[in-house]
Amino acid sequence: MTKPKLFIARKLRAAVEARAARDYDVVLNPEDRLFSAEELVAMCRQVDAVLPCHSERFSAEVIAQVGPRLKIIANHSVGTDHVDLVAAKAAGIVVTNTPDVLSDATAEIAMLCMLGAARRGAEGDAMIRAGQWDFWSPAFMVGRQVTGKRFGVLGMGRVGQVTAQRARGFGMEVHYHNRRRLPAHLEQGAVFHETLEGLLAVSDVLSLHCPATPENMGVINARTLALLPDRAIVVNTARGGLVDEAALIAALRSGKLFAAGLDVFQTEPGGNPDIAALPNVFLLPHIGSATEETRDAMGFRALDNLDAFFAGTAPGDRVA
Ligand code: DGY
Repeated sequence: MTKPKLFIARKLRAAVEARAARDYDVVLNPEDRLFSAEELVAMCRQVDAVLPCHSERFSAEVIAQVGPRLKIIANHSVGTDHVDLVAAKAAGIVVTNTPDVLSDATAEIAMLCMLGAARRGAEGDAMIRAGQWDFWSPAFMVGRQVTGKRFGVLGMGRVGQVTAQRARGFGMEVHYHNRRRLPAHLEQGAVFHETLEGLLAVSDVLSLHCPATPENMGVINARTLALLPDRAIVVNTARGGLVDEAALIAALRSGKLFAAGLDVFQTEPGGNPDIAALPNVFLLPHIGSATEETRDAMGFRALDNLDAFFAGTAPGDRVA
């Protein structure tokens, strides 16, 4: 039987590519090049399936041009904001994602961002690397302790829940806002706030874990930042579009925010140079799920979805 033709848009872990090559007629990207929209269309027109990452944008325009052969977009990401799901559904293209398997890795990065921001990790690291550490006193590099503080989770899905567990490990009191209140066994004692405003008012640390849906874009803006306690810390490991970066910069400059820890930006790759110029930020280049274990698990999960689809059964992680 002929194997389905699969385009794997970015370089994946060796074990994932080996399994894919065993079961599919694969087109790989060994140089790990980011394809233009035109190149993406050209590749997708020749295959039955594509396995992209969040770096490949499947806009309505791209989906309109990929032609009738492409049957499934099996994402190597939990986020699906790079795919126009309405257009994919209308075109009869199945879309899947990779939930669950990256929650631990992303929660770890959220803790790193929180601690890096609260304890001035980037400043200290830069000072030593620049050979400028020539002073110590009790007043030197004083940060904010997170123990005993209130940890606000915006979006208590899988990643939000695991991150909340980790924050409890630091003796933090967890609060959250979500579309729906969770059952007690998932809440684990976290305090539910029916409104975003209610959550913001108590968040000494605010950590974003909601999806980048159109209604959530810019949810952290001048109005909502003003509702946080003074000298709060904002952590974003979800998507850059959730935050109005100009408003964030203003709050970091004015001292309304003590600091921010960010793994995601409105412009990726690259980030925001005005944010990078601030002393009170801890920044990472969108590496929330970038561990060996998680990258393997994401790749295998995407292949599981493809296998189910081509076996004629429902892929477990179908989102459109
Ligand atoms: C995700 O899975 O959505 C992460 O951001 C990595 O793409």
